[in-house]
Amino acid sequence: MAKIKDGATEATDPEKVSEAQIAVHWREEGYYFPSAKFIGQANVSDPSIFDRFSEKNFPECFKEYGDLLSWDQYWHTTLDTSNAPFWKWFVGGRLNASYNCVDRHLATDRNKAAIIFVPELEDDETEVITYQELYARVNEFAALLEGFCDVKTGEVATFHMPMVPELPVAMLACARLGVIHSQVFGGFSGAACGGRIADSKSKVLVTIDGYYRGGVLQDHKVKADEAVARALEEGVVVEKVLVFRRNPGEYASNSPMVPGRDFFVDEIMPPYKGKLVDPVSMPAEAPLFIMYSSGTTGKPKGCQHSTGGYLSYVTGTSKYYQDIHPEDTYWCAADIGWITGHSYIVYGPLSLGTTTVMYEGIPTYPDAGRAWRIAERLGVTHFHTAPTTIRTLRKVGPDEPKKYNYHFRHMTTVGEPIEPDVWRWYYDVVGKGEAVIVDTWWQTENGGFLGSGLPALNPMKPGSCGPAVIGIFPKILDENGEEVVAGSGMAGNICIRNPWPGIFQTIWGDPDRFVKTYYEKYNTDKNSKDWHDWPYFANDGAMQASDGYYRILGRVDDVINVSGHRLGTKELESAAIMVDGVAEAAAVPVVDDVRGHAVEMYIALKPGVSPDQGIEQQVSSMIEKEIGKVARPKNVWIVADMPKTRSGKIMRRVIASISNFTDVGDITTLANPEVVEDIRHYVQSDKVASGDQPRELTAAELAAILAFGSSE
Ligand code: PRX
Repeated sequence: MAKIKDGATEATDPEKVSEAQIAVHWREEGYYFPSAKFIGQANVSDPSIFDRFSEKNFPECFKEYGDLLSWDQYWHTTLDTSNAPFWKWFVGGRLNASYNCVDRHLATDRNKAAIIFVPELEDDETEVITYQELYARVNEFAALLEGFCDVKTGEVATFHMPMVPELPVAMLACARLGVIHSQVFGGFSGAACGGRIADSKSKVLVTIDGYYRGGVLQDHKVKADEAVARALEEGVVVEKVLVFRRNPGEYASNSPMVPGRDFFVDEIMPPYKGKLVDPVSMPAEAPLFIMYSSGTTGKPKGCQHSTGGYLSYVTGTSKYYQDIHPEDTYWCAADIGWITGHSYIVYGPLSLGTTTVMYEGIPTYPDAGRAWRIAERLGVTHFHTAPTTIRTLRKVGPDEPKKYNYHFRHMTTVGEPIEPDVWRWYYDVVGKGEAVIVDTWWQTENGGFLGSGLPALNPMKPGSCGPAVIGIFPKILDENGEEVVAGSGMAGNICIRNPWPGIFQTIWGDPDRFVKTYYEKYNTDKNSKDWHDWPYFANDGAMQASDGYYRILGRVDDVINVSGHRLGTKELESAAIMVDGVAEAAAVPVVDDVRGHAVEMYIALKPGVSPDQGIEQQVSSMIEKEIGKVARPKNVWIVADMPKTRSGKIMRRVIASISNFTDVGDITTLANPEVVEDIRHYVQSDKVASGDQPRELTAAELAAILAFGSSE
């Protein structure tokens, strides 16, 4: 156990500090205030909102979000807790998400840009899709899904799509029919996609032949073949694969089209061209989509999101926290394959009738100025991205933004903690000192923001996500369920005491795991129907300063956050042990200046297998094949034995400390403490020799490493 003070580590009495209660003393940053100009135009600038959304008004306060939508039938019960913790929001209400994001804007904004698509190749034309055009495309694709694929309301369709406009069109087409979409991040491997198809039992896969990344047309269709094969191994037959073509009339893939299974969308579309499909009026609690996310055990969790609750929450938070006005040009540079893209590229902005920008490729392609040229050319007013992208942009072009004449009013950071220094560059250089910043903390499971300042009302504090958002009541608990006091300098497990409309409904097909992972830890009465008895355990370590602002430290479960992507250690380890000769594997995070964290793998070989370079390479390739490039380890270390507890569990935290050159802490309870020094010597001397020794960690980074895996 360690106590962290100003970046240095001291031994402390283990009796006094529990695992979750790591004391973190970082320097408190000063406030930044929004400009009068921003406040003057903000959607919310009246502090009475805090009272409207105070606990005494819960849950009815969320009527304010629900009322931003167009309902076919109004709800009779705002929150139904009768089957706790499977909350139901806006019960009795009926609506259609596609209608809310498209049709309802036609009367006034038919020819306004809904989506502006920027292809990665700079010489290629930007594509402007008006609300009317979006309406036509969504209807046609819905007609095709219904007519050609025979998918029905309540079934799941899987997409494995990159950042092209066909993706939001397909999502909204599903929403129109009440078909549940499950978009798998395009950068994930075919195998990873196949596992998700099998879990959701989709009979349709929507994909594309290729897309541009780093200037190269990637072969994407080949992943569909792997996905279908993997799904079949798991007992699910994909009947139809719909293949869009990135460049009309060409085929970018080397993988042959399988007759009777694979169809080019442009070839099967003609009978559906111009067809209209009535939006299906869905109950508020009908699932809208599934989004898979990594957790402690190997299998990704299909987070099931509702129609009415989810759409209300993303619309409300887009209006109040993103400060979106219909006349804005809003660019969220996330990928729609992640929850950020679902909520804050597609559903939130389109529901509010604004213009949302989609960019296909890498923000630094072909050079460090690309992102800022896009902002200048399109007159972007809002910019939303992750710290990993901000770090990259700063690294490759610290002075680029000032060369371009764009002016952001509002900027967002999401997905990982942002270092105050990086925050200040974002504010001063990217935002030119003119834009407010919201640091938004939330998760795939949550639908929308949990922690963030209201931009006109709460001052910004670099490195803190700010207070809880309106209608969210967190508390930080230690391992024994005792509350960790704000301003105490102690960290603990951040929980949300109350349900909210954006919370996911369950884990697809696994309600027991839903309860176990998120609610069991702090629930005191499993039969209770009172929401007060069911705090949501976010699996994040956090601390609260005396001003009420939260600082999120990172995951306390076995999840590694690489460039804002959640990767489960068990998924990484299962891939590694698929390599012949590997007996055991452990994945740990190592602090990385650009990606936040990178993955390091430790492996132990089966008896008689000799360690050679080949195995390390095979482990990396297998991880890339099973999960995707983003998961590729920075290093693979072959060790004679893993440090283990007496019950045989690998102590990942000990090897994580070795990888990060931090104190391994108390190892006396290990079954084999003697291996620790051997591993430390081997790994650290190799790193020092190759110049890979990290700089001294900040207090927050050190806390994140110490908290890693502490829930097990
Ligand atoms: O650890 C927290 C971190 O990202 C995790 C959620 O990842 P994911 O489900 O992929 O969703 C990412 C986008 C919503 C959280 O458990 N995280 C997210 N936002 C922040 C953050 N850590 C610190 N600050 C944030 N703003």
